[in-house]
Amino acid sequence: MLGDYERRDSFRCGVGQLKFGRSHGRQTRDTLDCAVARSVVVAELGGGQMIIDPFARDCDFAHPYTNDINPETNAMSNLDAEEWLEALRGQYYPGAFDGAILDPPFSNHQADRTYGTANLYTIPGKIKRIEMLVGSLVRHGGKVVKFGYNSNFSHSAFECVGVQLVRYGGSMNDMIISVHERRIAEWF
Ligand SMILES: C[S@@+](CC[C@H](N)C(=O)[O-])C[C@H]1O[C@@H](n2cnc3c(N)ncnc32)[C@H](O)[C@@H]1O
Repeated sequence: MLGDYERRDSFRCGVGQLKFGRSHGRQTRDTLDCAVARSVVVAELGGGQMIIDPFARDCDFAHPYTNDINPETNAMSNLDAEEWLEALRGQYYPGAFDGAILDPPFSNHQADRTYGTANLYTIPGKIKRIEMLVGSLVRHGGKVVKFGYNSNFSHSAFECVGVQLVRYGGSMNDMIISVHERRIAEWF
């Protein structure tokens, strides 16, 4: 059962199914500097578990399993996310990790303008392959916390169990935080 991320403005759809919340936040390049974002990650992935973060920037929540293509960040590896996940899959057995943070640039425009990278949305199928790799590395019962402009997660062994909207005000796009739990063990 999910804990309450943000009590104000939140409700539960169905009994023990989808936790939903909406709250105000501050937009930042370092996503987990936003208190709401961090509270969801701590609630869902906290507790000294083995977490992977392919787009970590300077965030050390998943240390030492952190990667970011930008070598000027604090991440432990500086590979393209897909390459890094393929390498992890070569080193660890399927389902070796307890969870994942999935926080890529949210669009091609943001990738280019904010982070100076632009291969995620221009190479067909890349985001889907990254999501499949992340899913294959997370164990049964483990969770993926995804940040973006949508709540999709491609791996079919996972079910969406929580959504937290972060609104910034005015005409700015919300950030959608979605939580996906692995419900099927044998599907890598
Ligand atoms: C939204 S930021 C991550 C912020 C981080 N989660 C935090 O809390 O501070 C996205 C990161 O993805 C990185 N990135 C962009 N394209 C990438 C790629 N193909 N592979 C790995 N990292 C990439 C960018 O350098 C950027 O630091």
